[in-house]
This record gives sequence, C-alpha cells and structure tokens, in this order.
Amino acid sequence: MKSIEVSTESRRYPIEIEWGALRRLGPLVARLGTPGKAVLLTDRNVWDACGRTAARSLEDAGFSVTPVVRPPGEEQKCLASAAEIYDVLVDARVDRKSLLIALGGGVVGDLGGFVASTFLRGIPYVQVPTSLLAQVDSSVGGKVAVNHPRAKNLIGSFYQPTGVVIDPSLLLTLPEPDRIAGMAEVIKYGIIRDATFFRFLLEHRETLRAISDPEAIEHIIARSCQIKADVVSKDERDSGLRNILNYGHTVGHALEAVDGFGHLRHGEVVAIGMVAAAMLSSKLSLAPPGLVEDHLAILSAYGLPTSCPIRDPDAVLATMRHDKKAVHDRLRFVLATEIGNVTMAEQVPDRLVHEVLVELARRSSGPD
Ligand SMILES: NC(=O)c1ccc[n+]([C@@H]2O[C@H](COP(=O)([O-])OP(=O)(O)OC[C@H]3O[C@@H](n4cnc5c(N)ncnc54)[C@H](O)[C@@H]3O)[C@@H](O)[C@H]2O)c1
Ligand SMILES: [Zn+2]
Repeated sequence: MKSIEVSTESRRYPIEIEWGALRRLGPLVARLGTPGKAVLLTDRNVWDACGRTAARSLEDAGFSVTPVVRPPGEEQKCLASAAEIYDVLVDARVDRKSLLIALGGGVVGDLGGFVASTFLRGIPYVQVPTSLLAQVDSSVGGKVAVNHPRAKNLIGSFYQPTGVVIDPSLLLTLPEPDRIAGMAEVIKYGIIRDATFFRFLLEHRETLRAISDPEAIEHIIARSCQIKADVVSKDERDSGLRNILNYGHTVGHALEAVDGFGHLRHGEVVAIGMVAAAMLSSKLSLAPPGLVEDHLAILSAYGLPTSCPIRDPDAVLATMRHDKKAVHDRLRFVLATEIGNVTMAEQVPDRLVHEVLVELARRSSGPD
C-alpha cells in the first residue's frame, strides 16, 4: 500500500493506493472514523462493476450502508440530482456523524462532494475514485461542484474529503476511451513537474496501456497524486501555484465549450491543449527545440489526439478571452520551459494563439 498525505489549511488527509483495495474498503474507511451510517453514492456502471463488493466490505466492518445508485453521465452533475440525493439523506436520517462515500468517476466524486459540503452545512465524505481521471485528479484537492445549464462547475466550493481510497484494479472494467483520456492528466504531471516521470511513462507505455503491470499502474497513480497533493497543499484555493495544474486547459476548455459538452472527452481536449501550449512556448522561444515533438510522441503513444478540425479559430479565441477575462489583446497561459517545468506567460498575443489554432486545424486535415 502506498500512502500519500494531503495537508491543506482546512484539513489533513491520507490517500491510500493499493491494487485490490476495494475488497478492504470497510477496514480502510473505519480507520478514518467510527463506523456508523454510510451513504454509498455511485452510478449504475460502477455499481454493476464493483458496487456490491464495496457495500459488503463496508457492512462487514460495521457500517450500515444506504446505496444510492444514479444514472451515469455528466448530466447528473446538476442541482436537480443533488436535490434528489438530499431527499434520500433526509429519509435515511443522516446526521453529521454519518459518512458519504463517493464511489465512481469524477461525476460521482464532484456531485457527492458537493452534496456532502452542503447537507447539514457539511458532513464527512470519502472519495473512492474508479476512473483514471478521478484517481489521479478529481478526487484529490477538494474542488466539489455541480454544473449550471450555462457553464460547467459553476456552483460549488472547496471541501476536502476525510480520505481517499484508490484501487487501481478497478481500471480493468473502465472503458478504454476513458482510460486513454485519463492518461492525458497523468502525462500533464510529467510535463509540468517531473521529467523522470515523463520518461517512465514513455518507456512503460505498453504495459501501462494494457494495465498488465499492477506495480507500474500503482506507481503512476501515486506519483500523480503526490504532485497534485504537493501543489494543493501549497495553494488550496487556486490563488497561485494551483494554476500550473491547468496546463493545456486554456485551449482545452475553449474547445470543450465551442464543441459543446460531452462531444470530446475532457482528457482529449487537454491533450490537444497541451500541444497548443507547447507550440506557443516554442513560438515565444521559451523552450528548447524538440518540446512540441516530445508532446506529440507521448500523446500519440497513448492514443490521444494531438490536433482537431477547428472550423472557427476566432470562436475558440473569443471563448478563451471571455473565460480568462483577457486584458487588451493578450491572454495568460501556463507554458512549459522544458519537460518538467512550466512558467506563467502573462501576455501572449492573440495573433500567436490564432496561428496555433490554425496550425492544429491544418494538422488534423492531413499529413504534415
Ligand atoms: N474536482 C476536480 O478537481 C475535477 C478535476 C477534473 C475533472 N473533474 C470532473 O470530473 C468529471 C469527469 O470525470 P470522469 O472522466 O471520471 O467521468 P465519469 O465520472 O462520467 O466516468 C466516466 C465513465 O466511466 C464509468 N466508470 C467509472 N469508473 C468505472 C469503472 N471502474 N468501471 C466501469 N465503468 C466505470 C462511468 O460510469 C462513466 O460512464 C467532470 O465532471 C469534470 O468536471 C473534476
Ligand atoms: Zn483536467
């Protein structure tokens, strides 16, 4: 078992990572607090894959479990779902000593965390992430939210869990496109913070893609969580350093918005956004030659997209400017100075961003 500590101003908590940990979920959660009422929030896919194992282990450890199984999908991350879950919590007489356990991908984690942060002005919750994205990113750091019809994650707060339990073996049932998309965030950690980790990902791409080496998978999840935990521990509320986690996300979010939610997976647009960031670094001479090629090599090795048919670069640019409240004709970006290091580029000219978007579209329309 690998254990990582997150230590923020508001709370200190462990992330436990172990192949097969779900079968021991009860004892692991019992270490975080006395067993009592536990609401096990999950979605239908995850319930079918591993929900009963989780419920049984919790019951064996003395918890009285109320399962709440929601339909899967991003549409569930809304106030109407939260309201339905509050009804269940009221019926089950949940109190401040009860525990909410969010077993699922980022949707269940964000929704469960949001409900836990608001019900009775806050009840304790444990994250048990089951998708790769959730295991390396969304379950750590305490950002909880639901979507507003007009924008993602608009309604939420910072609310840290009492613990995170990660079982990498659960990735065996995760659909492959979700596994691939989650790798974009793992690769991001290598680029922003750790060149050795980046090389490890390149070297072990075959076994990592096939999830055939439990130790290697445990290692990449632990290293990703460690990097995120370090950043979040220094900047819980997004006032500075936490920005570096948004590497590739400025262009990524704009593509997501212009294309509409749900068409491209989050990890896919982040992959394309990281290529855009590397191109900007090289246009601004912030990085040595080869940075773009390094990005393309690793992203393609994991089957991630590196370009997309952007029909209207001006619309993407306008979305970025709106999102980032750009000053004059300049945008702010996290850019890599080499693999393993990033810097904030405060005033990137619109013209360069436009050039990069056109270049991404051109690359997607045919061979270089
Ligand atoms: N809070 C944060 O810091 C943060 C960070 C990044 C992303 N997010 C949020 O995360 C969400 C996306 O998360 P996601 O990619 O995990 O999506 P998701 O929760 O929709 O999961 C993807 C799909 O995989 C299924 N699934 C999950 N685990 C499975 C398993 N082990 N076996 C079989 N099926 C499984 C789910 O049912 C779903 O259909 C978005 O809403 C995003 O805003 C939050
Ligand atoms: Zn992301």
